[in-house]
Amino acid sequence: MKPVKITENVYSLRVNHFNRRLFDSLIPLPQGTSYNAYLVKGSEKTALLDSADPEKAAELFDYLQDEKKIDYIIAHHAEQDHSGSIPLLLEKYPQAKVVTNPKCKELLMTHLHLPAGKFMEVKDGETLQLGGRTLEFIYTPWVHWPETMVTFLREDKLLFSCDFFGSHLASGELFSEEHLVCEPMKRYYAEIMMPFRSNIKGHLEKLSNYDISFIAPSHGPVHRNTKFIFDIYRDWAVSEPRKKAVVAYISMHGSTYMLVNRLVSRLQEAGVSVEKLNLDHLDEGRVAMALVDASTIVIGTPTVLTGPHPKAAYAAYLANLLRPKAKFVSVIGSFGWGGRVLEAIAGLIPNLKAELLKPVIVKGMPTEADLAQIDELAALIAEKNKDLAAP
Ligand code: FEO
Repeated sequence: MKPVKITENVYSLRVNHFNRRLFDSLIPLPQGTSYNAYLVKGSEKTALLDSADPEKAAELFDYLQDEKKIDYIIAHHAEQDHSGSIPLLLEKYPQAKVVTNPKCKELLMTHLHLPAGKFMEVKDGETLQLGGRTLEFIYTPWVHWPETMVTFLREDKLLFSCDFFGSHLASGELFSEEHLVCEPMKRYYAEIMMPFRSNIKGHLEKLSNYDISFIAPSHGPVHRNTKFIFDIYRDWAVSEPRKKAVVAYISMHGSTYMLVNRLVSRLQEAGVSVEKLNLDHLDEGRVAMALVDASTIVIGTPTVLTGPHPKAAYAAYLANLLRPKAKFVSVIGSFGWGGRVLEAIAGLIPNLKAELLKPVIVKGMPTEADLAQIDELAALIAEKNKDLAAP
């Protein structure tokens, strides 16, 4: 394979992984993914930015078959899908220095056992001259590890953003199309970035000081419409939640399902947008995406032994990890003879700084009185949402 030109002497070395279906043994990849390295050739020095997952190292080296000399390997992030091929790169290019920040150096030494002598540390804002090309390193910690940074190629106004602005999307197209990339980007943001919203907000402000014409992430296509990309990230990370409830539920014998259906109907009648997610076939990414802009989370669960259904507990735990911006939460469900569902769910969501609204836990098949409680909960959710914008 030949490197693909982005601008003069700047190339994409994208390794697509079309049939990968799970990332980190956790995250579904309905559209595969890619590991993108980039090559910047100055008149004096050549830099390779990031590498590829070691499982796909052969494809990265195929791109590099005519590349006799690499002076710098820029490591933006120590996670192995970008750094994992660096040991092999250093075997082929033993003179190359791994350029990164001190935290990333520490993590690369820990995770890949790279020797300290292979590194060149750079500070936030420091530049590296390649000859006619200037790399500026910008620290962006916690997107999504503590060592993450990005690089701005000044002459080309090109931001190499690593995971930031990425998408798990295997594609043969160099550049992104808004209508094709928006959903995979949202899925990626929801799964990877959402827990670090406050950091992302600060980094978006910092990067707004740069005149950026291209964003080249290390997953998915390169972005030319940088305003659109910044705008959707601001919407996801910074904007107030929307008038929207996520109702994530599972039912065993239909009683919880009756409560869920009543709640969804009443919310929709009251003008609250609802995303109803059956946890029977859980797609973690779908749950995460639904949570990006929701104001309200409702967990619907039957009682199993004395606690929530394990799939409902998992969804609550997942929401807690992802730290969405929801302001309100509730629990509805049915039990056979007793239980402590509410206490168990509450114990799973300490990170959600959300107000608990009027849980409805009923015995057996819901009665009209039980359904009236659901109506009250729906009215309360609608009232709490009345000043929020529609999704
Ligand atoms: Fe794509 Fe955090 O690695």
